[in-house]
Amino acid sequence: MAEGFMWYAGIPFPASLYKPEDIRAAHEQFVVKDEDIITVTYPKSGTNWMIEILCLILSKGDPEWIRSVPIWERSPWIENELRFKRIRDMKEGPRLLSSHLPIQLFPKSFFTSKAKVIYILRNPKDVLVSAYYFYRQSKIIKNAESLQQYYEWFIQGNVSRGSWFAHVLGWMSMRERENVLVLSYEALKKDTRNTVKRICQFLGKKLEPQELDLVLENSSFQAMKENRMSNYSLANRNYFRAGIEITRRGMVGDWKNHLTVAQAEDFDKIFREKLAGFPLELLPCD
Ligand code: A3P
Repeated sequence: MAEGFMWYAGIPFPASLYKPEDIRAAHEQFVVKDEDIITVTYPKSGTNWMIEILCLILSKGDPEWIRSVPIWERSPWIENELRFKRIRDMKEGPRLLSSHLPIQLFPKSFFTSKAKVIYILRNPKDVLVSAYYFYRQSKIIKNAESLQQYYEWFIQGNVSRGSWFAHVLGWMSMRERENVLVLSYEALKKDTRNTVKRICQFLGKKLEPQELDLVLENSSFQAMKENRMSNYSLANRNYFRAGIEITRRGMVGDWKNHLTVAQAEDFDKIFREKLAGFPLELLPCD
């Protein structure tokens, strides 16, 4: 069993970053506003990429904001930054917010609001590999000794934010709502331009073609890798080791370079079992 977690309502959160009262406050007290735009993901699904894109949509492609303010201040985390007042101090206008909360712990006020949620899905095998390498660069939970060990924790849901399967099933139940847009990392990679256009449509924003070009250019993997406000090189050293990088490979299917054939086959079997009855064609797992 992985160590270093604070369990809240059956969900493990890194204990060094979260207190039960933070999660309770986020769930029960946080007031979502109708203009809010919230990026929601299971960790390592492309959260920061989406945040960068949203920042650039709001600035019409102008990179000044993304190059001068750390990404976690541009779109603060609902569940762990309330006590830092970052969210309360945000100026009026559409607030960008982020969350990894499973649906049952998401702010209750969202469900009667017109706020917009963009939920990003990613192939769980890529999520698993991405998370294994990311947490090795962090000090927030006890690291797995091997990818095999992390694989076992992931299947059991003994990893940060619990079961990928439950998180995704919970949020997929919202996919028909007008104010929820479900997108996959894979679709975003395959056709970034048209997916960004879809996001603009969902948000009711219109970009000129040259503005859209700027959004794509400034949110590219390379641009994010080079932007110290976005690549996590400024992340708190109490929690993250020097050399931490959010932009690791940025690929679809990197799991093939890390998981054995037996692990992948085993995973696919568990995937089908855990999601039995759900239209699997809606979920990336190839
Ligand atoms: P890998 O570890 O597979 O490279 P999150 O932001 O949810 O923590 O997700 C991190 C993953 O998103 C990492 O995946 C990272 O490389 C990828 N990512 C970050 N920025 C990206 C970008 N601009 N384009 C494509 N992938 C990106």
